[in-house]
Amino acid sequence: MIILKSERDQKAMREAGAIAALVLDEVARFVVPGVTTLDVDEYAAARIRCHGARSAFLGYHKYPCHVCISVNDEVVHGIAGRRRLEFGDLASIDVGVYYHGFVGDTARTVPVGGCDARAQKLMDVTERALYEGIAQAVAGNRVVDVSRAIQRFVEANGFSVVREFVGHGVGRSVHEEPQVPNYDDGKSSPRLRPGMTLAIEPMVNAGGPGVRVLSDGWTVVSEDGLPSAHFEHTVLVGEGPAEILTCCPETPLTRLP
Ligand code: MF3
Ligand code: CO
Ligand code: CO
Repeated sequence: MIILKSERDQKAMREAGAIAALVLDEVARFVVPGVTTLDVDEYAAARIRCHGARSAFLGYHKYPCHVCISVNDEVVHGIAGRRRLEFGDLASIDVGVYYHGFVGDTARTVPVGGCDARAQKLMDVTERALYEGIAQAVAGNRVVDVSRAIQRFVEANGFSVVREFVGHGVGRSVHEEPQVPNYDDGKSSPRLRPGMTLAIEPMVNAGGPGVRVLSDGWTVVSEDGLPSAHFEHTVLVGEGPAEILTCCPETPLTRLP
């Protein structure tokens, strides 16, 4: 069952989304060469607390960290630890917060200090694929229209979309129906209606689409060891263009085409 959000729910989702976006922005600026992934998680925990929210990921299916930090060939669900970030690494940060009973879920890949042109292209294509998907998140379309737009854009740029992990409805829970794949899975696909809130989140591999899970039970890595990028927004479907709930109020998206 897909849960439609009332006006009141939408207002709460806007607040949760804004906090998630602020935290992601803060954490992204904290990511510099020399900090450990545990430093990043501790900083994220402090910022989430400071905004009066709590992590939606800590303890979710026993996930042990406040945010997900996935480096280079790590696709999603990386676990913070003693690893020290180095210049040129790609760090994917995924922030999920609860605020007044609702979840904001947003992710971004950032270069640590700087990166080479190929890595920059991977990030740009993934971010733009997210916006291609969001552009299709309009009442009357189906979920597969979002999926196809993402897949088409990514593959036209020579990269691969991950199949095993998908976007999702989001609301009082991190994961609600419907699933929002980043490719056309050929299955029947729900129609989008005003009041749906979706987390759209392309995970894009520089090489092949294959992934596997490390023995820690969480960290998803690319099978070929090539880097991966991940961008995510929580959006509200309406009659017109979707409203992005996880836009950071202090960093308008001026960089986008
Ligand atoms: N961030 C993931 C998502 O966007 C969910 C993470 S679940 C966790 O859907 F348990 F790993 F935190
Ligand atoms: Co997320
Ligand atoms: Co998500």
